[in-house]
Amino acid sequence: MPASSVSLTNVYKAFKGFKGEEILAVDDVSFRIEPGAFVTLLGPSGCGKTTSLRMIAGFENPTKGKIKIDEEDVTFIPPWKRDTAMVFQSYGLFPHMNVGDNVGYGLKMRKVTTSERHKKVSAILDLVGLSGFEERPPSSLSGGQQQRVALARALVVEPSVLLFDEPLSNLDVLLREQMRVEIRRIQQKTGITAIYVTHDRTEAMTLSDTVIVMNKGKIVQTGTPFDIYEEPNSIFVADFMGKMAYFPVKILAWEGKDAIVELYDKKLSVRVAKNVTPNDSQRYILACRPESMKMQENGKGVVPGVITTNVYLGNAIESYIKTEFGEVMVKSELPKEGLRPEGSPVSLSIREDKAVLLPLDPGIDGLSLNKANI
Ligand SMILES: Nc1ncnc2c1ncn2[C@@H]1O[C@H](COP(=O)(O)OP(=O)(O)OP(=O)(O)O)[C@@H](O)[C@H]1O
Ligand SMILES: [Mg+2]
Repeated sequence: MPASSVSLTNVYKAFKGFKGEEILAVDDVSFRIEPGAFVTLLGPSGCGKTTSLRMIAGFENPTKGKIKIDEEDVTFIPPWKRDTAMVFQSYGLFPHMNVGDNVGYGLKMRKVTTSERHKKVSAILDLVGLSGFEERPPSSLSGGQQQRVALARALVVEPSVLLFDEPLSNLDVLLREQMRVEIRRIQQKTGITAIYVTHDRTEAMTLSDTVIVMNKGKIVQTGTPFDIYEEPNSIFVADFMGKMAYFPVKILAWEGKDAIVELYDKKLSVRVAKNVTPNDSQRYILACRPESMKMQENGKGVVPGVITTNVYLGNAIESYIKTEFGEVMVKSELPKEGLRPEGSPVSLSIREDKAVLLPLDPGIDGLSLNKANI
């Protein structure tokens, strides 16, 4: 299948609110997606993900800025003249048409002959794992199957960019996991450019080559799933990607990309968040993922605490530890000698290669972060 690049340059979208007030849904967004890449727009509700996607599809015009598909300026080109197709959360199938006609609808509109249409519909149903479903009415299909039909309908017209707006939100957890793998498999097999909108970090992590994290209409970080999880550039991104423990530290020295910090009289050499230039007038806090800390015998680690709760997850244990800095969570495998009981005093050691020093906004109390985090 063809694959195009997509680029947004300084794109803004302002809506008029109920009272005539201006809502800046997308605020100076720029990015470029290479042909064949799988890119996710990730962020909390209302951050401008759907609006960005709708502008790429042409359902919405930007207030300012430029959108290009390949090198063609499509900013004000109507949707049907763009080489994009979209898959929605509500599958949007035509209830009175069978699966074959639903999938073949776009081809019919493009005046593709009946025999050619049947061939293409059958091939694409095969690709999404629904061979032989042509005659079935959509109402007789499960949610996952309906979403596969919607995906087939988008793919059959061989768009060069496939857009997804939270396509798995209506499915139960197991099906969502299955469909996630399926979508990635199909995207890789077809080589199509995919732009996927979600507020689910696991979905973003498992599907994407690149994740674009948005907040309040702006891009706050772009990177591989690894970068975004391991090297967030802000407390917002760190928290959005999963639990973090935060420790106030004293900075002793900057050493290139690292910093030497002091925590409970112990010196640690830790990374400084990407894109953050060390600056002595800025406040910082040390952030550590639950799996990058270890519970040690009393006194052997860095941060003393007491286990308040153990949560058994089958493949891991989440232990909540009360410390001087609030309650933090440590994720570990079940130790051979069994679970340390609640109430046990422990000492937390921190993996220096995994901990990251993040800037702390003025007015934010570093100690309150651990409370908010649980
Ligand atoms: N047609 C519209 N008229 C007025 N305001 C709008 C319109 N569409 C979106 N907005 C506002 O723009 C902002 C961004 O909306 P958008 O739908 O892009 O968010 P989103 O990131 O997709 O959120 P969600 O995860 O809830 O789907 C929100 O504040 C929303 O209320
Ligand atoms: Mg949305």
